[in-house]
Amino acid sequence: MLFSAPAAAQEAVHGGPVRALAVAPDGGVASAGFDQAIILWEPGGQRARGVLRWHQGAVNALAALPGGMLASSGEDGLVALWPPRPGPEPLRVLTGHRGPVAGLAAAGGRLASASWDGTARVWDLSGGAPVRVLEGHQGHVNAVAVRSDGLVATAGFDGTLRAWPEGGTAGEAPLTLAEFGLPLNALVALPGGVLAVGGAEGELRLVGPDGRMRAVQAGARPIVALAASPDGTQIAAAGLGGSVTVWEVESLRLRHTLEGPGLPVWSVAWAADGASLWTGGTDRRVRRWNAATGRPMGPVEGPAAETIPAGLHPQGAQVFRACAACHALDAAAPPMAGPHLHGIFGRRMGTLPGYTYSERLARGDITWTRETVGDLFTRGPDVVTPGTRMPIQTVGNAEELDALLDFLEAATR
Ligand code: HEC
Repeated sequence: MLFSAPAAAQEAVHGGPVRALAVAPDGGVASAGFDQAIILWEPGGQRARGVLRWHQGAVNALAALPGGMLASSGEDGLVALWPPRPGPEPLRVLTGHRGPVAGLAAAGGRLASASWDGTARVWDLSGGAPVRVLEGHQGHVNAVAVRSDGLVATAGFDGTLRAWPEGGTAGEAPLTLAEFGLPLNALVALPGGVLAVGGAEGELRLVGPDGRMRAVQAGARPIVALAASPDGTQIAAAGLGGSVTVWEVESLRLRHTLEGPGLPVWSVAWAADGASLWTGGTDRRVRRWNAATGRPMGPVEGPAAETIPAGLHPQGAQVFRACAACHALDAAAPPMAGPHLHGIFGRRMGTLPGYTYSERLARGDITWTRETVGDLFTRGPDVVTPGTRMPIQTVGNAEELDALLDFLEAATR
């Protein structure tokens, strides 16, 4: 059976590990990673509705904002704010950090950012300059969270968990909530003023508003990401070694260890309804898991089953699954992240009416033929058409590429 297959939510679509995930209120998911691309997924994760390629360098963090907006930050030290239906440029760019921005957290019309420049900043979503610059950590600030009582908290390479009471001027001394010997990588807020923090030795710690601490060993390797369920009763911890564990906050009892494909994981997020979990990892895929069972979930509705004509060229159709999240074959298909490929052969690049291309493709002069499409996926879009929004990717080997081209020739006529 060609298309009944896998537990994967979709084929590998990122050009590198998926470092960040955010879930929008409408259930849509944004994923981002080392390939500099942000991919916007429809609820369910089967189709991509957009690809944003703007950051210069890896995208390290994402945060869903009110009104369907999205914040992204990266290695380039910039924080970008995107409108609900983003074009190629962000709505606003927040500048000031002098190092990679590793963490973002939004609450109450504000956005907080944590940077390897040793500071965290708090921004008003309607303004430009930061309303507060939080200085005091020694070295990288790796993560930031807004506590349920509104207090901004940060965790850093220096092993400290700090809180920054409002009302002080820049440079005000923070409260040190807890101090650990080893670097802290991940931080998330839970109900009741509790903070969950994950560190280099794999311990998951819950720090109460009174400073009381509870801890559990979540794994043998550093924790790289934490995510709280929407109701705050469960927390997922992703370890650098590969495992994702899900804990009950109340009892610190282990509910599941996610087992299946796609590990190791770099990022984790809960779906808005709390019923499923998303993970992104080294295999460049975004995967979905059943939060109640800890098992990988099969596709609910795949673009494959609907739009890939299986009879045409089975092996090529299989290879095309890596494209199907972003490209339709049918001119009448609803808009997706990439242009539909109907009639692609013989068409000049960047000329499908009604699709908004990057400048690179809109200005390009390649005509798509078997040879030029073959070249595109042999050397990769980043080499053949640098500046394109299409994620970095190549097709594994000559046989698969031939099969893909045979399939495309038949299926795009
Ligand atoms: C994550 C989404 C994504 C995936 C996966 C993807 N593409 Fe694309 N593709 C795009 C986007 C976005 C564009 C437009 C790029 C631009 O404007 O710079 C594009 C452009 C193209 C173009 C040029 C179209 C034109 O009208 O000039 C071709 C051909 C193409 N893709 C083929 C493929 C094939 C074949 C695969 C699978 C091997 C694939 N793409 C995988 C997003 C994707």
